[in-house]
This record gives sequence, C-alpha cells and structure tokens, in this order.
Amino acid sequence: MHLRKSLLLFSALVSTSVWALKPLPQKVPTPADNPITPAKVELGKMLYFDPRLSIDGTISCNSCHNVMADGADGRPVGVGVRGQRGGRGSPTVWNSAFNSVQFWDGRAASLEDQAKGPLTNPIEMGMPNHDEVIKRINQIPGYVSAFKKAFPKDNSAVNIDNLAKAIATYERTLITPNSPFDKFIKGNKKAMTAQQIRGMKLIEEIGCTSCHTGDNFNGEGLKMGEGNYQPFPQIPGSDYDKKYDLLSDKGRYEVTKKNDDKNHWRVPTWRNVALTAPYFHNGKVKTLDEAVRVMGKTQLGMDLTDPQVSDIVAFLNALTGEFPKQTMPILPPTENFSLTPEP
Ligand code: HEC
Ligand code: HEC
Repeated sequence: MHLRKSLLLFSALVSTSVWALKPLPQKVPTPADNPITPAKVELGKMLYFDPRLSIDGTISCNSCHNVMADGADGRPVGVGVRGQRGGRGSPTVWNSAFNSVQFWDGRAASLEDQAKGPLTNPIEMGMPNHDEVIKRINQIPGYVSAFKKAFPKDNSAVNIDNLAKAIATYERTLITPNSPFDKFIKGNKKAMTAQQIRGMKLIEEIGCTSCHTGDNFNGEGLKMGEGNYQPFPQIPGSDYDKKYDLLSDKGRYEVTKKNDDKNHWRVPTWRNVALTAPYFHNGKVKTLDEAVRVMGKTQLGMDLTDPQVSDIVAFLNALTGEFPKQTMPILPPTENFSLTPEP
C-alpha cells in the first residue's frame, strides 16, 4: 500500500510538471461527417425535447438531462418509462461534447453512437426498435420537412443515423465557457478566491490531477473515442466500499469482460460538478464534500481534513461555467398521430 501510494504521488508530481491547467477549449470537437449547421441544431433540439420518441409518450432526453438546469436529473439513478429505474446516475449533457467517450463505462465512442441507445433501452424510452422510432417520425410531417432541411443531400433523410446526428449536433451547442477558473487561467487573477486558489494547488499536490488531467479534468490529450479509464476504488478495502456499494457494478468490465477492467471507470469531468449531485456512477453519494472525501480515501489512500475538503470543494465550484440561455422548441404538431406500437 505504501509503495503504491508513493508511486501514485510520484506520478502525480511528474504529471504536474508536464501539465499546465487550461481553460475550456473554444472549439467543440466535431466529426468530419457531421458538421454543425443551424438546421441540424434546430432539429436535434426538437428531437431532444420530444417525448413522442418514447413508447408511452412520456419521456424525452430532457426528462433525465434537463437543459433548463444542470443537464442531469438530480436523482441517484435515471427514471424512465413506467417509472422504471436504471442502475446508474444520469451524467450531465452540458459539455458532453468534450467527453472522450460517452457513458460511465465509455461504451459509446461518440455522441452520435450514444444518442441511439436510450430510444430502445427498455427502462429509458422503451421503443422496441429503431424502425418503430422512424415510423413515428414519418407520421409527423413537420419532422419530415425538418429532416430534409437538415440533411438536404440525403434522398431518404428520415433515418436513425440522421436522427442521432441531429441530436449530437444540438448537444455540441451545450457548452459552458467562462467559469471563474477559465477566467483565472486566462489572466484575471481576481476571478478565483484565495480559498479556490488553495484548492487548485492542493488537488495538484496530493495527486487528484494524476487522473483528472486536461482541459476538462478527465484525461489529458485524449482523442474522441479514446477513454481515460481508472480503477475506482483504486485502493479497495475502505469502509466506503460497502457504505456506497462501490464494488457491485464492474464498470468497464461489463463492456469488455476483461479482468483488468474490473471496477474501472471513465474519469469524469469536474466541470459543473458542483451542480450535479448526487455523485458517482451509482449516485449513492449525496454531497460534493463527501464525494471529495471518498476520492481522497479510495484513490489516494488519504483521510482529507475538513479544511482540505473545503478548499477542494471551493475550487470545484470555480469550475461552474456560464450557461447559454435555453429556449424551448416548438414541436411539430401531431395531426393524425397515434402512438404505434401501442404502449
Ligand atoms: C431514463 C433516463 C434517461 C433518458 C430518457 C436518457 N438518458 Fe442519457 N443517460 C442516462 C443515464 C443513466 C446515463 C449513464 C448510463 C451509463 O453510463 O451506463 C446516460 C448517459 C448519457 C450520455 C453520456 C454522458 C456522459 O457523460 O457519459 C449522453 C450524452 C446522454 N445520456 C444523452 C441522452 C440523449 C440524447 C437522450 C435521448 C435520446 C437520453 N440521454 C435519454 C439517463 C437517461
Ligand atoms: C486513480 C484515479 C483518480 C484519482 C487519483 C482521483 N480520481 Fe476522482 N474519479 C476517478 C474516477 C474513475 C471517477 C468515476 C468514479 C465512478 O465510477 O463514479 C472519479 C470521480 C470523481 C468525482 C465525481 C464525479 C461525478 O460526476 O460524480 C469527483 C468529484 C472526483 N472524482 C474528485 C476527485 C478529487 C477531489 C480527487 C483527489 C482527492 C480525485 N478525484 C482523485 C478517478 C480518480
């Protein structure tokens, strides 16, 4: 354990020397085959807010990722059609465009891949298959023309890939720049308080940033589709394992079935983390203070003191960005529309 700890600290020191804190990038990573256009953003936003994409017409993407607020749902785990609960917490969609991979276990390489999943997940939106989703869209003339406008070169524009492309494009507009930290790093030394600055130094000193590196504190220099996976708990055996049920969900292993991936997770971003309680993949930790304490113990083998926890939490609060104002879309009307297949 001691050796492991010093190794970790060593790697933390090495990483601090090569790694400089950086502001949120201005440019959103965008795949070459899905450039951002206003028509796609508009269509993607409508789809994102439309509960008609769920089997019983009750759940939209926004039900679990509310963009009028923190981009998540404030619940420990997502609640989908017929009140069903999943096993994991809803991450925020704000800045998800900067995630190297999507989902807690990284099982989707891009926002486009990700967007197809919830529609047919039986406990999220519950549609039997993508064909049925497309049949519903085809019943709504306003959507058919919006797809044609967004994908003018496509002869049969209404298809699942374009639906995913449009939603992903809307998500790429959900960016929160200009946090106090960003302003500080760009040179406004008054943008962060003395306590936040202490917290910023502390997370580097004790080694949080050996994993939470880079512009988004989720891994340095990652390409899209390439995740930064780390064990959680890194040092098993603390009381937290049981208290917060940290070991039952095997994370990345559930995707790869490789033993080395047991209890490995994508390192999540710290941006806006002060707003997205409850914490961790299973949403079992209610406050940011406690999440920081758990990280100290399980990842670095440290019992952080109360003042240390407060300083770190103050710093994490400096990572809350500016949220661009959201307006609700007008959804295409439902003349002659019925929920088929019936819920
Ligand atoms: C019932 C709640 C629910 C609904 C509805 C839902 N999601 Fe999610 N979403 C989740 C949960 C839970 C996860 C994490 C699951 C996991 O990691 O295994 C997630 C993950 C994501 C992620 C990955 C974010 C990250 O940080 O990894 C994105 C992006 C996302 N959802 C977008 C969408 C879109 C777009 C829709 C609509 C097509 C949608 N979600 C519908 C609950 C929901
Ligand atoms: C060994 C790598 C590693 C180290 C070191 C580490 N973390 Fe983490 N951190 C992770 C992983 C992996 C997760 C995702 C855990 C999960 O599955 O929920 C995480 C999650 C978090 C979360 C919760 C994010 C959310 O959205 O729920 C916070 C907050 C956090 N870390 C802060 C810290 C702080 C503060 C430190 C230093 C005391 C630290 N981390 C050290 C890997 C690490």
